[in-house]
Amino acid sequence: MLGETDKHAEPAPKQREYASFQLQSLTPHIGAEISGLDLAKPLDEIQLRDLETAWREWKVLVLRDQALSSEEHKALGRRFGTLHSHPMHKMKLRGDDPEVLPVITTPESPYTAGDGWHSDVTCDAIPPKFSILHIHETPESGGGDTLFANMALAFELLSDTMKDFLSGLTAVHDGALPYVGAYKSKPPEGGYPQSEHPVITVHPESGERILFVNSGFTSHIKGLSPRESRALLALLFDHIATTPRLHCRVQWEPDTVTLWDNRCTQHHAVWDYYPECRRGERVSVLGEEAPAGPA
Ligand code: SIN
Repeated sequence: MLGETDKHAEPAPKQREYASFQLQSLTPHIGAEISGLDLAKPLDEIQLRDLETAWREWKVLVLRDQALSSEEHKALGRRFGTLHSHPMHKMKLRGDDPEVLPVITTPESPYTAGDGWHSDVTCDAIPPKFSILHIHETPESGGGDTLFANMALAFELLSDTMKDFLSGLTAVHDGALPYVGAYKSKPPEGGYPQSEHPVITVHPESGERILFVNSGFTSHIKGLSPRESRALLALLFDHIATTPRLHCRVQWEPDTVTLWDNRCTQHHAVWDYYPECRRGERVSVLGEEAPAGPA
């Protein structure tokens, strides 16, 4: 979706040198691979600060050869805040531990979780700010990558007129869309969560403006007719899915751990490996505040 927007976003200088580890970027705009850090060991203060800085700079961090137990995985998540309990856990649909989301696809799976552009659980009033996915088993023939998109850059590449228009709008994010619509789960009593968030948010740490609608959860934009809302969301979802410079691609190996910031990225798990298997576990960290729009 380029036009007036057919321009190069001004690249902000990003930090590449860290005391605690080595960092190699995956693309100039999003994603970095870190080596020289063992996530199973408690992070010291310098490692924690470096990891937070790299996370803010690169939005998606990939670490190889991290043989984390579930407890070590949760302990890592807790260094960044309170762990999130997934709404599907209430339905006993996803494992026994509310803080660990099994991510498992087998030949019997009717769907694979996250197979579409989304940010995690935006149906919650305060969605998880971070997610940390540990993949244990990858498909034998390859595949099963995860795509990530930089949603600050997605905002930046819109025309100024579109940015202004979107900045006053609010969207509804509905858990029934993926959990009932795509995953065919029976909703809990009272239904899955539904929340309203600004279409454009401000990242609480970086101050970046973020395009904050996603095809997984966003059902409609308030104040527009159903046709207008459908057309506008289709345009924005198309922008996110078909602008390759927004994206990086993570190729998993057994014991790869990837950390992403849900407040400024979206991701898409690629299910290209049927009938092979892919298994892992995700821990997410609650945000401190509801997503806020520009003042
Ligand atoms: C998800 O958190 O949406 C799953 C991502 C993945 O399995 O790659």
